[in-house]
Amino acid sequence: MAAGSRLAALWLQLFVVVSSCVCNVSPLQIDPLVFEEQLLWVSGSQGQVNTYRIPLLTFTPKGSLLAFAEARKSSSSDIGAKFFALRRSTDKGATWSPTTFIIDDGAAPDGINLGSVVVDEEVGSVILIYSVCFHLYHCSPASIMMVESRDDGLSWTPPRNLSVTLGVKNFAPGPGLGLQKRFNPAKGRLVVCGHGTLEGDGVFCILSDDHGQTWYYGAALKSIPYNQKKKAQDFNPDECQPIELTDGTIAINVRNQNNYHCRCRIVVHSYDGGLTLPLEGLIFDEALVDPVVAAGALQKEGVIYFTNPSNEQKRVNLTLKWSLTNGTSWENKAVQIWAGPSGYSSMTSLDSGSVEDHKYIFVIYEKGQKDYFETVSFTKIHLYGGR
Ligand SMILES: *[C@@H]1O[C@H](CO)[C@@H](O)[C@H](O)[C@H]1NC(C)=O
Ligand SMILES: *[C@@H]1O[C@H](CO)[C@@H](O)[C@H](O)[C@H]1NC(C)=O
Ligand SMILES: *[C@@H]1O[C@H](CO)[C@@H](O)[C@H](O)[C@H]1NC(C)=O
Repeated sequence: MAAGSRLAALWLQLFVVVSSCVCNVSPLQIDPLVFEEQLLWVSGSQGQVNTYRIPLLTFTPKGSLLAFAEARKSSSSDIGAKFFALRRSTDKGATWSPTTFIIDDGAAPDGINLGSVVVDEEVGSVILIYSVCFHLYHCSPASIMMVESRDDGLSWTPPRNLSVTLGVKNFAPGPGLGLQKRFNPAKGRLVVCGHGTLEGDGVFCILSDDHGQTWYYGAALKSIPYNQKKKAQDFNPDECQPIELTDGTIAINVRNQNNYHCRCRIVVHSYDGGLTLPLEGLIFDEALVDPVVAAGALQKEGVIYFTNPSNEQKRVNLTLKWSLTNGTSWENKAVQIWAGPSGYSSMTSLDSGSVEDHKYIFVIYEKGQKDYFETVSFTKIHLYGGR
């Protein structure tokens, strides 16, 4: 090929790359639109399940989506026998596999509880960490368990008991997503954060530097008074969702169980990859009003997204907010996803670098007409208003 035509071919390639990229769309143009919505689970309608709750949503290293929920066998209570329900989507949420039950605790009086999913992109695995007997209801001690999938969520290893090395302190991961550090410090580390029992509450993180082979306790932000009965307005950090900011800081968005200081979210930062949570890095985010619930958080391309039922008193008004300032302020134009009863939510996005993946985030949440736990709904959000 002559130098001239080689150059022309190169220009053509460059043109194709540039024109198929929406890199010129700036975060300032974010204008989210609920693009698609599907109910993944409906409580009370299927065979052995009374209620579906605690939805989790994750991407996989192969670009699929996995949705998990607790399938509570006989009541809507946190306590009682359960399955973990799983559905997979290999087409970015357009269609979903039938439900498979990946863990069954039999008829255990307390049973299993979700849970955190953490994706290890370096080895291509999806890890699910959950608790057994967390409420100590006719059983003891509580245990932390782990299962792993290396085939995109199709099959799972038998449960491994992490309490053998971590100890049997009550630890309820998430509920939500753990993270793998993409930036230093501690690039590659798996970080899963959760909380303790109501008396021994607080945010605790477990860490793994060997792709989930071994885990150890990192940061703790303990409740006050610790290991003692709480009163209204005591400091009681509870269920939490960590995200990594683009400078390697971990920001953990936390349920403020006893409404200490505000009816809003606590956000606490770790600057050392999850080893410590200094009080200097703790804020009460008054912009994120909250009825005391597990919320969703996500960092995508430097923008922070947050979902919760945005109401001081009740679990209603599931709302998406976003921040262009690393969570120090939120854009005024929030998007209401569902006005009615809505509870826990979890968020993820795909990150292949493709135009398609650049445009969307995905939210899963508890949604109902009368009660927030009637259904689990999946939504695909177009970040640029369908543009
Ligand atoms: C997990 O290990 C701990 C500590 O050895 C033990 O006390 C607990 O019973 C185990 N849990 C399960 C579910 O096997
Ligand atoms: C819903 O959330 C928005 C955004 O936070 C807020 O302005 C509005 O007052 C909320 N509505 C209800 C009914 O809670
Ligand atoms: C957010 O954090 C990134 C990484 O440290 C930084 O480059 C950016 O300037 C920050 N943005 C704002 C608005 O503070």
